[in-house]
Amino acid sequence: MKVIFIGDIVGSPGRKILRENISALVEEYKPDLIIANGENAAGGKGLTPKIADELFESGIDIITMGNHVWDKKELYPLLENDLRIIRPANYPDICPGKGFTTVTINNKKILIINLSGLVYLDNLNCPFKTIDNILATTSSDYIIVDFHGEATSEKLAMGWYLDGRVSAVLGTHTHVQTADFRVLNKGTLYITDVGMTGPYDGILGVEKEEVIKKFITKMPSKFSVLEKGPNQLNGVFLDLDGKIITPIKIIN
Ligand SMILES: [Fe+2]
Ligand SMILES: [Fe+2]
Repeated sequence: MKVIFIGDIVGSPGRKILRENISALVEEYKPDLIIANGENAAGGKGLTPKIADELFESGIDIITMGNHVWDKKELYPLLENDLRIIRPANYPDICPGKGFTTVTINNKKILIINLSGLVYLDNLNCPFKTIDNILATTSSDYIIVDFHGEATSEKLAMGWYLDGRVSAVLGTHTHVQTADFRVLNKGTLYITDVGMTGPYDGILGVEKEEVIKKFITKMPSKFSVLEKGPNQLNGVFLDLDGKIITPIKIIN
């Protein structure tokens, strides 16, 4: 089973570089499934039904989310109704949407799970207990986890906690691709952060002057997606049977 996972798509620059390069990626890697984190796809903040459609039309099969999942209220009904979009499973049960979904490809079931870390993020349910519960109550041939977290330690802890129990643990949220992609000892494919897909000359996708100003003045600052200059696409290719994880990075 071959999968491409694309890191946090940020605004129209992220959608543009995705559109421009997805055919070449499909040609090169021949994935059975393409997953993307879409939490920043609508102007950097959340996702709308229209933009979700655009991502599906571009060739994305499953969209995962993160801490920006609630930024666009018009997404809430879609989170309830569209099995192709998932949000972190460790939000309270009362929240709209679901934290995992299953797709069947060539008679094989692939379970995709979205979880949020707790370090420097909202105080949600324990992601370790949450995934234990999901794994205890579902069955599948392959399991891919998008662990949306800030702290490298928390993401590594999740990787080792799930080693041998899931096919892949892929970190998202920090928007910077880490160089630690590897196969863990019991066969789980791992990377601390897949990186982002969007503007290349900003800071995590945002106009750099706005972020620098905030660091210097400590005052509130409005962040805008950088709309000019080169873009970057970051992701990983996974061969779940061959136990291969390969980083993808395109800049243009
Ligand atoms: Fe993000
Ligand atoms: Fe995030």
